Amino acid sequence: MSLKTIHEIDIVKAPHSKIASVDFDNLIFGNTFTDHMLVCDFKDGAWGKPLIKPYEPFLIDPSAKVFHYGQAIFEGMKAYKDESDDVWLFRPDQNLERFNKSAVRMAMPEVPEDIFLGGLNEILKLEKDWVKKGMGNSLYIRPFMIAFGTGVVAAPSTQYRFMIILSPAKAYYSGEVKVIIAEHYSRAANGGIGAAKAAGNYSAQFYPQKLANEQGFQQIIWTDDATHTKLEEAGTMNVFFRIGDKLMTAPVSERILDGVTRKSIIALAKSMGIAVEERSVLVEELIQGMKDGTLKEIFGAGTAAVVSVIRAFCYQDTTYELPVQDDSFALKLKEKLTNIQYKLEDDPFGWTVKI
Ligand code: COI
Repeated sequence: MSLKTIHEIDIVKAPHSKIASVDFDNLIFGNTFTDHMLVCDFKDGAWGKPLIKPYEPFLIDPSAKVFHYGQAIFEGMKAYKDESDDVWLFRPDQNLERFNKSAVRMAMPEVPEDIFLGGLNEILKLEKDWVKKGMGNSLYIRPFMIAFGTGVVAAPSTQYRFMIILSPAKAYYSGEVKVIIAEHYSRAANGGIGAAKAAGNYSAQFYPQKLANEQGFQQIIWTDDATHTKLEEAGTMNVFFRIGDKLMTAPVSERILDGVTRKSIIALAKSMGIAVEERSVLVEELIQGMKDGTLKEIFGAGTAAVVSVIRAFCYQDTTYELPVQDDSFALKLKEKLTNIQYKLEDDPFGWTVKI
């Protein structure tokens, strides 16, 4: 499968590429950007013509609503290079669909497929040298939209800017991941914006995450805001639990992001004969599973995080170390997923899309 070519686009090429100055072996996640970016403005009720231009800062009015009311959404995607130097996307239609769901929830205009996927196709053609070959290398894609209209009245903007920026990436988590189970703070509530990839969902986690980092944990596993007894997601990834030989993950809801990696892992696990239950998993099931040895694995799944094994979790001041599995579901699923993404295995699901 490949993406449609967009006809209505302007391209201004960067006079020089900075690629030679980048140390691709020592990338810090999300810190290096490619030579170009895509910009498309919405005003007077319509989207304008997208423009690909050199990556650079831009002017924005201090009263723009994005600064005051956080009207902003984003997506996370990756491009991969195969052994024949072809560049591939993974389920990009799912990102477009989720982006537009987030847009509706945040009272923002939906971005047409032609601009989102057509524009992405064009910028990736231009930046294909930034996608490095080899397992673990990828080009992280960050499409986002901000409220660009001015005035501090608390009402939706009438002007928006949609952009795509690209960042060469390796792993999001460099070492072992240890998490704290949330007992007080919450990420989302029913009726709120938890299912949207809204910027504010992430900044609201920064303070509790800082407290967790100070105690030596990388992430928080959020629990339901009402009772703090049901395990939900980890903010940068959805979470899976292996109890016995069953894999469990919370069902998507108004509080949980409908992760593309999450749904791919569920489909892959089922195709590999692993029983999967989408149901609320209780904190007490983890504690019981640690006592009787049935809790075998916990792992996170997300675009940036891929599949990240969680080594330990903390609850009520006790840290529980998970056993190392010889027959790890996480590692098997990660291998299957990345083999499909890097075109090392057949893609029976038709998930990969060529640039
Ligand atoms: C992603 O996995 O792409 C995300 O959007 C999470 C982000 C916080 C890095």
